[in-house]
This record gives sequence, structure tokens and C-alpha cells, in this order.
Amino acid sequence: MPEILRTHTPALFEAAVLRAAEAIRRGTPVALPTETVYGLAANALDPEAVRRIYVAKNRPSENPLIVHVAGLPMAQACSREWPSLAGRLAGAFWPGPLTLVVPRASEIPDLTTAGGDTVGLRWPSHPFIQAVINACGFPLAAPSANPANAISPTTARHVAESLGDRVALIVDGGACQVGIESTVVEVSDRGWRILRPGMIHEEALQDVTGQAACRETCPPPANRPVASPGLQPRHYAPRARLITLRWSDDASLVGAMEAQGLDPATTHVLAYHSVPSPHTASRICVIPDDPEAYARAMYAEWHRSDTLGARAILLEAPPDHPAWSGIRDRIRRATTPAA
Ligand code: TXA
Ligand code: MG
Repeated sequence: MPEILRTHTPALFEAAVLRAAEAIRRGTPVALPTETVYGLAANALDPEAVRRIYVAKNRPSENPLIVHVAGLPMAQACSREWPSLAGRLAGAFWPGPLTLVVPRASEIPDLTTAGGDTVGLRWPSHPFIQAVINACGFPLAAPSANPANAISPTTARHVAESLGDRVALIVDGGACQVGIESTVVEVSDRGWRILRPGMIHEEALQDVTGQAACRETCPPPANRPVASPGLQPRHYAPRARLITLRWSDDASLVGAMEAQGLDPATTHVLAYHSVPSPHTASRICVIPDDPEAYARAMYAEWHRSDTLGARAILLEAPPDHPAWSGIRDRIRRATTPAA
């Protein structure tokens, strides 16, 4: 099993930074905490180290990696052009859960960007990954630290359970504060558009840029057939069948479960508003009803249901409010039937 390093005292934190930076300099990917989800990090400028990430995750090589930086100068060094909109968005949301897709610098290897002409850049706010980037002095490519198509990990234990021996070293930086992956935004001089929704939502981006997102009516910043491979309809799914429903009381929930052919003995319910009685399903979990707290808890609850052997997870449908758009996106992808 992988070695897990703790970071809850200053001495442990410092020791873990040195160990992680040393392994990464040797070309070994290390699982690190970020504020969104845990990432599997390697030197973004070293194709051999980056190749090891793809192998460990069993990730298709056409899916580009996000490059994590510590500071604006490092971000600008990774990009060929730094559009003024990128500067505005970075000024408002970095360090934080926002990835900016911009033209890539020639120093970034093909493997990191999956051969594309753009690079996704993020300055994460978690102090541990910032300290490791600073110790290394180079940017870190880091996808979520899970096998391809599984749910992203929000604790060190999730990483150990899903990647197992495919990772040698995991740094435990606590449960992730944001809980779902960053918002990915493509930016150019012509405009911006969301490639992957997240907790920084469209209205917030529009406030900062002072312009609406590019849609069919205005040309997209780059003309690529597949804007972002991570936009495949099905992604991030738990093993249990995930079903979204609304119910008003116990009777309507029980009726809906019957109609879906669900056995209450193997079904878990995740509710934030209409909390059913304990006897209606094998586990009833109450998850907070504000979007930030919900996002923080969501993947952990899906992981827990999988660990406990649930066959189905019944989710109370989330509100139709912009602040929930990242959450709705992840639920939609996880509930889309496999092609
Ligand atoms: O919060 C996050 O973004 C986490 C943490 C570890 O930073 N990382 C993450 O990475 O979610 P990953 O590899 O699981 O998802 C990256 C997404 C994918 O959908 C990928 O296709 C997209 O970002 N992406 C990365 N670079 C891109 C690029 N140059 N153009 C378009 N999409 C890109
Ligand atoms: Mg991922």
C-alpha cells in the first residue's frame, strides 16, 4: 500500500513538503491535497514524469492535464499569450478553484496538453501544494488522483482506496474544502466560455469579465472539434446506480423507489431538504442545503455509499440556482447511462 504522510503540525508539514518535492524531482508522481480534490502531481515540464501520471490513472492520452502554478509569473511563463481577460479572472479568483485555458508556451510538452495548442493553468489555494510547487521551482501537472472515470478523491483515504499501489506516496492535507473539481474556462482576446462548470459559476465570471460567455452567436475562442475531453457526457460516476428524484413525503419516496425497481435494503438516500424517515431506505444521509457545504460533502457521501456496498444512491434533486450549477453538472454526468 502507498505511504501516507501527515501534515497537521508545522514539522510534519515541512517534512512532507521535502519528501514530496524530492519524489517529484525524481520523476515519481505524488498524490497531493488541493482545495478542490486531491491531485496526482508530477513535473509538468518533464514528459516522462507526465507519462507516469497517465499510466497510473489509466487515462486516455487525448485528455490534457491541468498545470498547477504558484503565482502569476509562473502562469505567464507557461502561456504564449496572456489575454487581458485571463489577468482579470486570475486577479479575482486566484489562488482558487479556477482553471484558465490559454495558448500554451513551447516549454510545455505535448504530452501535458495532449498535443493541443492550449494549456489549462491553475494556481491552487491549498498551502501544501503551493509549498511543493515553490520547493520544486517548476509547475506541476495534476489530474484528480483517481483511476479514469471514477469519482474524484476528497480525502487521502479515498486516494489510497482507489489508486492503491498505483501511487507510492500520498500526502494527507485533510478533507478538501471545495469538494468538486475547478471551473475550467477558456479565455482569449475574443472572449471566454466555460468548458467545465464548478463552484465559481457563470454569473460570477460574467461580473468580473464584464461580458457574457461566448455561445453559438459569438465565435468560441479556439476552433477545436472537442473543446474539452473532460466534457464527455458520462464521468465521475460512483459504482452504485445514481438516481435523482424529488419527493414530498415518505409515501411518495417509497412509491418512486418501487417505480424505479429499487430495493430499499440496498438503497441509500441523500437528502438536503425533504428528509425521509429512517425505515424508508438502508441509509438516510442528510447533506447540508447550502451549495458550498453540499459540494464539500457530495463526493465523500458517494464514496461512502460505494464502500458500504449500496446498489443505488437516490439523490434529492438539487435546486435550479446558478450557485448549484457545478453540483448539477457532476450529478448529471454521474447519472447519464453509459454509452
Ligand atoms: O480542481 C481540479 O481541477 C483538479 C485539481 C487536482 O486541480 N484537477 C482536475 O484535473 O480535475 P482532471 O485532469 O481530472 O480534469 C481536468 C479537466 C479535464 O476535463 C480536461 O479535459 C480539462 O480539464 N482540460 C485540461 N487542459 C485543457 C485544455 N488545454 N483545453 C481544454 N480542456 C482542458
Ligand atoms: Mg478527473
